[in-house]
Amino acid sequence: MNKQQTIVILSKRELDKMRKAGRLAAELLHHLEPMVKPGVSTLELNDEAERWTQAHGAKSAPLGYKGYPKSICTSINEVVCHGIPNAKQILKDGDIVNIDVTLIVDGYHGDTSKTFFVGTPSPIAKKLVEVTEECRRRGIAEVMPGARIGDIGAAIQEYAEAQGFSVVRDFVGHGISNIFHTAPDIPHYGTRGKGRVLRPGMVFTIEPMINEGTWEVEVLSDGWTAVTRDRKLSAQFEHTIAVTDDGVEILTLPEGEI
Ligand code: MF3
Ligand code: CO
Ligand code: CO
Repeated sequence: MNKQQTIVILSKRELDKMRKAGRLAAELLHHLEPMVKPGVSTLELNDEAERWTQAHGAKSAPLGYKGYPKSICTSINEVVCHGIPNAKQILKDGDIVNIDVTLIVDGYHGDTSKTFFVGTPSPIAKKLVEVTEECRRRGIAEVMPGARIGDIGAAIQEYAEAQGFSVVRDFVGHGISNIFHTAPDIPHYGTRGKGRVLRPGMVFTIEPMINEGTWEVEVLSDGWTAVTRDRKLSAQFEHTIAVTDDGVEILTLPEGEI
């Protein structure tokens, strides 16, 4: 364990940099959205993301991170997270695909993801994706000074399980600033009243991965691609957020959206 355990409180100046990085990451996701159509390869999405990122003077955080080979993660259907873009992987009607982008702007990170429908989703895919986005919303709604990290996971788990789905345990949200992944861990399951107390200036991601069947995952032989053990569907939505004096600020919204 070489992960820093101290939870950093960001200064006003650092929060401003996180806002810029978060907004640009959100805008990249928005830029890629119209490309999500049957027939497009995940490598085409990756390459457009990399081109756009460079054109905006930013850097892709995943590229080269712990040896990760591409600029974004593209996770289709049973892939839970960390799917690697590939020219031979073509989106087809009925797929769901999570696109996860992390940009570095002036040394600070913005990390956000969304699960898109390719063409027309099946009823179960539609429900899973809608429930997962609502899980992120409910998790974020728990964030305020004095709340605890366990409140976030409890809200997400209660809702996901009440809808008949399961919460991935092996991947969690994370503190983020000038470091991509740092303390604290933010589990998307848990118990109200447990865990560290939230304070203004803390910044972390909330990124629930919700499965149609079992919560158990396995990692494929490429060392990255995480899939559901039962190969049923998985969806994910992610925002980077800051604890404010009176609640929460979502940092990964495009300009103009509150
Ligand atoms: N963006 C992912 C997250 O939400 C991390 C991707 S790491 C990579 O934390 F190396 F797979 F890109
Ligand atoms: Co991410
Ligand atoms: Co993240």
